[in-house]
Amino acid sequence: MSFSMSQYRESADYLRSRLCGFQPEVLMILGSGLGFLADELKDAVTVSYVDIPHFKPSTAPGHKGQFVFGRLEGKAVAVMQGRMHFYEGYSLEEVTYAVRVLRLLGADKLIVTNAAGCVNLEWSAGTLMLIRDHIKLCLASPLRGENLPEFGPRFPDASAIYTPEYQHIARIAAADLGISLKEGVYMFFPGPQYETPAEIRAARVLGADAVGMSTVPEAIVARHCGMKVLGISLLTNMAAGILSQPLSEEEVLEAAAKAGRQFSLLVRKCLTEL
Ligand code: HPA
Repeated sequence: MSFSMSQYRESADYLRSRLCGFQPEVLMILGSGLGFLADELKDAVTVSYVDIPHFKPSTAPGHKGQFVFGRLEGKAVAVMQGRMHFYEGYSLEEVTYAVRVLRLLGADKLIVTNAAGCVNLEWSAGTLMLIRDHIKLCLASPLRGENLPEFGPRFPDASAIYTPEYQHIARIAAADLGISLKEGVYMFFPGPQYETPAEIRAARVLGADAVGMSTVPEAIVARHCGMKVLGISLLTNMAAGILSQPLSEEEVLEAAAKAGRQFSLLVRKCLTEL
């Protein structure tokens, strides 16, 4: 099911009524391990997804299901505490609904992060990876259906979904902080099962450095509506079949918690420069 322009506008109008003139500039969709950044906003206003017309609650473990609006590093930001994933049963239009609503509120920048599996055999778990590009071979596009030209064109260019200027900012931020930041290609898998070893070998052949179950739909929709996008992955585990052990959510969450501080330093530093 696609949403209409009036539905997006109703959601935006509701949020505007709660924000008393505050205008978010940067939308932050944070993956496992970085949710705590929302608690660090100044002058925070919290809005639960369930109160917003046409919004769906987020059901993933460790995801709260609310927006936190406020200031971080001097920027007016909206943090999604709890993102929607396709594997939860949402359509890709639902997964990306918030991006368009925030665009209507004036946000023109997206920072999106995730926990991901490491496909690149030269790297190890704990690596931070700047997303240079992505591969999404399964499922339809979140832009499928009637195009809403208020957001963007029917056939949007996808040659620079992750804004080159923001990649440059992230590289410099990491170097300034002494944080190692790899760069690579993120491949989207719908989950919720982790990939098979054969899927990971295929992903590697195709040019992927990391795999995960989020980010790509949001990035496509953000770029379509003219937002600039910065994407960073935390590679919490070696992808399936690389090590002789099964993957588990505990491993992912543990690694995400461990890297959280470094990850947040990097994201905050990038934020100052956007
Ligand atoms: N695969 C998919 N998603 C993930 C992984 C993985 O190995 N690790 C964290 N999120």
